Amino acid sequence: MRVLANDGLSEAGIDVLEEAGFEVLTTHVAQEQLISYINREKIGALVVRSATQVPREVVDQCPELKLIGRAGVGMDNIEVAYARQKGLHVVNTPAASADSVAELVFAHLFGGVRFLHEANRNMPLEGDQHFKGLKKSYSKGRELKGKTLGIIGMGKIGRAVARIALGIGMEVLFYDMLSETATVQLTFADGRSLDFELSGSPMERLLKEADFITLHVPSQDRPVIGARELGLMKEGAALVNTSRGGVVDEEALLEALESEKIRFAGLDVFASEPTPEVQLLMQPKLSLSPHIGASTLEAQERIGTEMARQIIELLKK
Ligand code: MLT
Repeated sequence: MRVLANDGLSEAGIDVLEEAGFEVLTTHVAQEQLISYINREKIGALVVRSATQVPREVVDQCPELKLIGRAGVGMDNIEVAYARQKGLHVVNTPAASADSVAELVFAHLFGGVRFLHEANRNMPLEGDQHFKGLKKSYSKGRELKGKTLGIIGMGKIGRAVARIALGIGMEVLFYDMLSETATVQLTFADGRSLDFELSGSPMERLLKEADFITLHVPSQDRPVIGARELGLMKEGAALVNTSRGGVVDEEALLEALESEKIRFAGLDVFASEPTPEVQLLMQPKLSLSPHIGASTLEAQERIGTEMARQIIELLKK
């Protein structure tokens, strides 16, 4: 059977599929030509990341397609319910990138509390002329240790974030619509491990008590964090969004940054990807990255092999 990995797949994943007798095509087919390509090349499994859209037409007009794979977590680019109802397998790799996303959250947090996002913009411009001035500007950094992290969404990624937070001595509060308790297992390099049992908090308590808030929720119709929620947050708190654009109201966030209600924010995802609002790109209190939460070599390798394993399990006769 032929697999089209339209947004790429790690070598490790391709190797596993090929060893099992699948043929993997990694050509990137433009959205408008996807249906005709799938039919012409007799593709049985389509694997995408977030770039390729898989609307109902693909399901309806590609009768030989048996599986749609999302090499990653969020499936908002796929008509999942419709495809399943029509008998297709739709699978993703929810655990494979959790640690990479969690580390990116902390890259934004560690950078933010020491003004690295601002220093990296200003050192090339003024570092040789105004070194002492910049040193003074960035001299009131903070530590994360001992502070409270609020995690909204305690799935696999939320728990991976909690692991790092607990490991560096932070208090953790979480809010999750579906679970009231969470077990977070810290594993150490020497093989020891430690379980933490955490209880969920009401959203309002989390907003009021957390020094830093991070979101790990799927795409939503309405923002989870809007003007009201930002208003409830602690003065000088910070926010990180590596989940989906639109779960934070960007306009309200810009206002909260300008009024200094929010000290800084880290954004990896944007409502208008791939063309984020220029006001966000130019706001010095924003630590920015271009949707790279899952983009580590390690995560891509795990995603590829996990996706391959599922395709083999579901389609190998
Ligand atoms: C995901 O949902 O897996 C991540 O946001 C990464 C991506 O979309 O490429």
